[in-house]
Amino acid sequence: MSTPVVRTLAELRATVAGWRREGARVAVVPTMGALHEGHLGLVRAALGRTEKVIVTLFVNPRQFNSAADLAAYPRTEAEDARKLGPLGAHMLYAPDAAEIYPPGFATSVSVSGVSEGLCGAFRPGHFDGVATVVAKLFLQTRADLAFFGEKDFQQLHVVRRMARDLDIPIEIVACPTAREADGLALSSRNVRLSAAQRAVAPALVRILAAAARRLAAGEPARAALDEAKAAVVAAGFDSVEYLELRAEDDLAPLESLDRPARLLAAAWLGETRLIDNLEIGAAP
Ligand code: PAF
Repeated sequence: MSTPVVRTLAELRATVAGWRREGARVAVVPTMGALHEGHLGLVRAALGRTEKVIVTLFVNPRQFNSAADLAAYPRTEAEDARKLGPLGAHMLYAPDAAEIYPPGFATSVSVSGVSEGLCGAFRPGHFDGVATVVAKLFLQTRADLAFFGEKDFQQLHVVRRMARDLDIPIEIVACPTAREADGLALSSRNVRLSAAQRAVAPALVRILAAAARRLAAGEPARAALDEAKAAVVAAGFDSVEYLELRAEDDLAPLESLDRPARLLAAAWLGETRLIDNLEIGAAP
């Protein structure tokens, strides 16, 4: 059986109020649909922590940088609801655009610091769009916990900062990146890869892992990062947007491994932009 779909804020609020009267704690798993095993892992983690789990599905126009990318984003709502049913997720909240951005909507949530650089440098306005919609989803669902994947590591930082700064009473739970057997990070965008591109794609995490090992062994960061960037292109990627060493706790740029750190990268394979990251010292 599919998980029931709710489209209006009124129905969402009434259902959550009923759950609260029964004493249930509520988790939210925000998504843009096209659910894959990574999302399902977040749902399982959420079901392990709360009595009720809401998965949200909203392809948020404000976080896309091109109309073509927005139009091409996979939309598979019925299949998503079917995948969630057997897991036991309690609601798929798939609001119409007017429930999120009603006529006259004029507010934007902008998080400085952690949203700058990395993806923020290449996707102007993207994290404002993410912070705005996630703030709305937190306030609409009034969930106690929210689950996010570490694959979007900068997004995780932006969401944490936003919730803390706005005093939204929600615990943000980070879950490790889900990967294919060959290491490729699961992403809704992977379906766009041709067979040849799919064969190249896992090179990104392999190269990050090799660079992470060099850094952990004490090699100078600059050389390891430059060589890793060149290796990504040599492996068949068309270009590298960034490949950087950042502090684990606040994403500060690092020149050397003097505190817990993470390598983060974005690279293009044809029309598809892939991102990935690895904690230094953690096996992929
Ligand atoms: O990670 C995503 O799928 C989206 O950025 C999110 C968090 C659902 C906001 O639209």
